[in-house]
Parts: sequence; C-alpha cells; structure tokens
Amino acid sequence: MDKFIVKGKTPLRGDISISGSKNAALPLLAAALLTDEPVRFSNVPRLQDIYTFNNVLRVVGAQVQFLEEQNQVHIDANNVNYLEAPYDLVRKMRASFYMLGALVGKHGYAKVSMPGGCAWGPRPVDLHLKGLEAMGIQITLDKGYVVAKADDQVSGGSFRLEPSSVGATINLILAAVLRAKSFRIENAAKEPDVVQLCRVLNEMGARIEGAGTDTIHIQKVDKLTGGTFRNDPDRIEVGTFMIAATMHPDSHLRLLGCNADHLGNFPELLRQTGAQVSIDGETIEVKAPEVLQPVSITTGIYPGFPTDLQAQWATMLTQANGHSSVTDTVYFDRFSYVPELSRLGADLKVEQNKVSIHGPSKLEGASVMSTDLRASVSLVLAAMVAENSSEILRIYHLDRGYESLEGKLNAVGAKLTRAQE
Ligand code: UD1
Repeated sequence: MDKFIVKGKTPLRGDISISGSKNAALPLLAAALLTDEPVRFSNVPRLQDIYTFNNVLRVVGAQVQFLEEQNQVHIDANNVNYLEAPYDLVRKMRASFYMLGALVGKHGYAKVSMPGGCAWGPRPVDLHLKGLEAMGIQITLDKGYVVAKADDQVSGGSFRLEPSSVGATINLILAAVLRAKSFRIENAAKEPDVVQLCRVLNEMGARIEGAGTDTIHIQKVDKLTGGTFRNDPDRIEVGTFMIAATMHPDSHLRLLGCNADHLGNFPELLRQTGAQVSIDGETIEVKAPEVLQPVSITTGIYPGFPTDLQAQWATMLTQANGHSSVTDTVYFDRFSYVPELSRLGADLKVEQNKVSIHGPSKLEGASVMSTDLRASVSLVLAAMVAENSSEILRIYHLDRGYESLEGKLNAVGAKLTRAQE
C-alpha cells in the first residue's frame, strides 16, 4: 500500500487545473448502457472509481476504451449480454449500484449486488428500491442480490424521495427514460451531477423535464442515440483547493477550468473567513487571509454546503482564530477524521452530528491513517500546515477521488512524496 510523506509549512502559490468530476462522470458511464450506439465522454478523470466502473461495464459485455492521456472514455454497449453486477465489483464502489437502473431500464432485467455499508456508517438503498417498485418494476432480494424485472412498458406514476437522495434520483432516471410511460420524482436531488445526467440524456433523445428543481418528470422514449459529451469540472476538488489556499498562510492559488455556478454559497462562506476570493469566468482565485476567522457551517442538500467538503472545512477551522463548529445533516456519522486530526494536535470534539473546534492549534507532524476519501484529503491539508513531516497511511482512498493530487499540490509548492508503506 502507498503512503504520503508530507513536509509541512509550505505556502501554496500558483495555478492548478481542475479535473473532471468523478461523481458526475459515474452516472454518465451508466447512461451509455441505454443506447446501442457508441458514446464518448471527455474530461473524465483518471481515478480508481472510474477504472472500477469501466470494469463493471465490461462485465456486462460493453466495450470500453479509456484513453487516459486524453481523459476520454468511449463506450459501445451494443453487445451487452450479461445483466448482472457482481458483489466483487459493487463492494468496491457503491456507485456500481447505478447498474440496477441502467440495466433494468434498457433490458427489463438486472441482478445487482446490494452494496455494503461504508466508512461513515450504513448507507441504505431503500429509496432506490421503493422508487423502482413505485414505477412498476418488480424487485426481489436473492442472497445479497437485488433482482429487478420489468415489462416492456411500466406505468410509472410518482415517487417522493425522503430524504432527497442523489443516488436514488439517478437510478430512477436511468430506469425510467426507456421504460416508464410517465414518471415523476418528487423532492428530487438538485445536485449538478443530476442536472448534467439529464442534459446528456436529453441530448441523446430522452424526455426529462425539471432537472435542477425539486420535481423531475420523465416521459418514455423508444430509443436513445449516441454522441460525444463533456463532463463537468469537479466542484469538490475546486472546494478542496479553495480551502487549501485559505488555510495555508501566504498562499495564493488560481484554479483553472472551474464552474463557479456549481459552488452554491461556498465562495461567500469562504470570504467570511477573511480569504480573498475572486471569480472570473472559469478561473477562481483565492488568497489566504492574514487572520483566519472561524466560520461555522451546516451541511445540506444542494445548493447547501456539501457534505463532501465538511471534513476539509473542519480541518481549516483548526487554524481559525476562535471557536466554531461543523454540523453534518446529510450523514450523521462522517467524522472519522477527527481522532486523526487530534493526533496532529488539533482541538476538536464530536457530539452526535456536530464537531466543535477550538483554534488556532499548532499542529505537529505525526503518523495518521486515511479512513475515507474526504477524510484522507483533510489529513493532507492538515499535514501541510503542521511542523515537520507527517506520514499519511492508506492513501488508496485518495486515488479513488483526486486526480494526481501530489502532482498538482507539488507544482504549487507543497512537499508530498509517495512511498510504500
Ligand atoms: C452521493 C455522492 C457522495 C455524497 C452524497 C451526498 C456519488 C457517487 N456519491 O452519494 O459523494 O456525499 O451524494 O451529497 O455521487 N438515503 C436513504 N435511502 C436511500 C438513499 C439515501 O435514506 O435509499 C439517505 C442517505 O443515508 C443520506 C441521504 O439520503 O442521509 C443522502 O444520500 P445520497 O444523496 O443518496 O448519497 P449518495 O448518492 O450515496
């Protein structure tokens, strides 16, 4: 296994190019199964989760070519002949569960392993299954697998998501476009990942209205065509580097290829810390404040503060001048990074779904362990402000979600070295 050795106390100065979004690309890859024509996606990041999803597509018989240097994926799903996503692959990545909606939507049958829990507690799929049933698809459970069966056309109807769920919204859309006469998703996820999926599907010939609002309405079409589509930039990567520039004294980063419209009120919250944030088209510039002010946040569904940035924000607050808190209302138990930050000398305390932070803490390099993707990048952020060197173990989590993290950070002054554990 790989680890990072991080030498701390280096300001970050220069330009970073933002990669394509992982979470937005995965539903697009699944959508390629809905047409017999070739589909090409550009701006797809070279990440472990993308390799895993490509393999899931290959298992069912799709031809997948990943032109890694060009960040392009070409998919031809004309010969899909095995309608099953096995446990081995689904357990590696929950998003493989999108295969359920895509396969039953196109072929009327799917057998997909139930995903397991994850590092931040149980992550149910009950809404995915209840929504499919409400649509008229028959769902049965068989030895850890979900089996979905549908007639050529199902009646559809409507289903209300409570709570709003990105994954369930995506699975229901994938299932409905070719199969449900008319289907309405209420309290649908409004995340840019969902909006991009609907835009691409509509360009392929689907009839989806209301993407980006609470109510998405899908009407059946008989077939979808292929085409070439560009994947959105990664808003979580953008937010992570904006936080990096803010919490590292004397830093000044320019992030290239962003879509600031996908950031909700994040830039405004960051300005409240004293950081200078300017947005000019696809470029976002962030200068660290002289004194970092404590700004408490609560996560929420889009356009609220993303749960995927709360660990990084809490890490930044360990350097702020005073008391603050981070509350996660999307996932109540996503604080596995807290004990690791404490090992570096931070002063944090978790109570239920809230972490209280007393800053500023002088952090001192230590050995710490990655537990999940966003926790891992938070440890990198912390190690970069700590005295001396830190060792971050099990960074395979980072390779799932940040394209060439050490390359990008080292180019702006960080000192990260990858080594064998
Ligand atoms: C996606 C993102 C993940 C992000 C999350 C929330 C991907 C691959 N992952 O995950 O990075 O943190 O959105 O923005 O895009 N829920 C249920 N029943 C269900 C489904 C969800 O109760 O059937 C609950 C969850 O426990 C959670 C909430 O709904 O409390 C939101 O989860 P959801 O939006 O589904 O997250 P994911 O799509 O799994």
